[in-house]
Amino acid sequence: MIELRQVGYVHDQGTPWEARALEGIDLRIDAGERVLITGPNGSGKSTLAWVVAGHVEPTEGEAHVDGRAASESITTTGLLLQHTRLQILAPTVQAEGARYGVDPLRHRHALEVLGFDDSILARKIDEMSLGQQRRVALAGLLARQCPVLVLDEPLAGLDRKSVARFLDAVDELPPTTTVVTITHDIEASARLGSRLIGLDEGRLVAP
Ligand SMILES: Nc1ncnc2c1ncn2[C@@H]1O[C@H](COP(=O)(O)OP(=O)(O)O)[C@@H](O)[C@H]1O
Ligand SMILES: [Mg+2]
Repeated sequence: MIELRQVGYVHDQGTPWEARALEGIDLRIDAGERVLITGPNGSGKSTLAWVVAGHVEPTEGEAHVDGRAASESITTTGLLLQHTRLQILAPTVQAEGARYGVDPLRHRHALEVLGFDDSILARKIDEMSLGQQRRVALAGLLARQCPVLVLDEPLAGLDRKSVARFLDAVDELPPTTTVVTITHDIEASARLGSRLIGLDEGRLVAP
């Protein structure tokens, strides 16, 4: 279960560039829930994704996953970054799997679910399309069998084939996996979640 209590976040706090991104967020997401977080550009969606996934500590309030600080759950929560290329650090798909220390068989199975055959393993990340890179990144998270996935704008910029493969892979997740999807396109993301959470200017609003 994900629990946020009065969470606020100020980027670059204490500097001339400080910018408030989140304020007074109270949110509970049960294990196995599939939720969509939506809102306009700059409303704080990506910052919320980073807080939930434990990549940054909230500057106010508390964020917990299964009773522990979200920042201590960073190995069990998988975050798919909005800017996919920043996520994949190894030069090839195989090396990227090894970086996580995932079981190679499980990694290959995840890649297969996402529409790749074994020839993808030796492919260079920089020679792949955005849709391929994002599916490779998701395969890494699936192979890690994270109980919580946070997906930041996962379908943005993807062609129809990549969207279909991506949605199929999320459909195949165990029902116990919690999936939090950030999106500005609710219609396109409808298969990723049914509960809608709205954000505007860093605060929760009716979606
Ligand atoms: N790394 C950062 N440094 C400073 N300000 C940031 C940073 N990331 C986001 N912000 C600011 O925080 C606010 C929320 O941004 P963000 O969480 O990226 O929103 P969204 O994902 O909804 O577009 C915006 O005002 C943005 O300019
Ligand atoms: Mg964003």
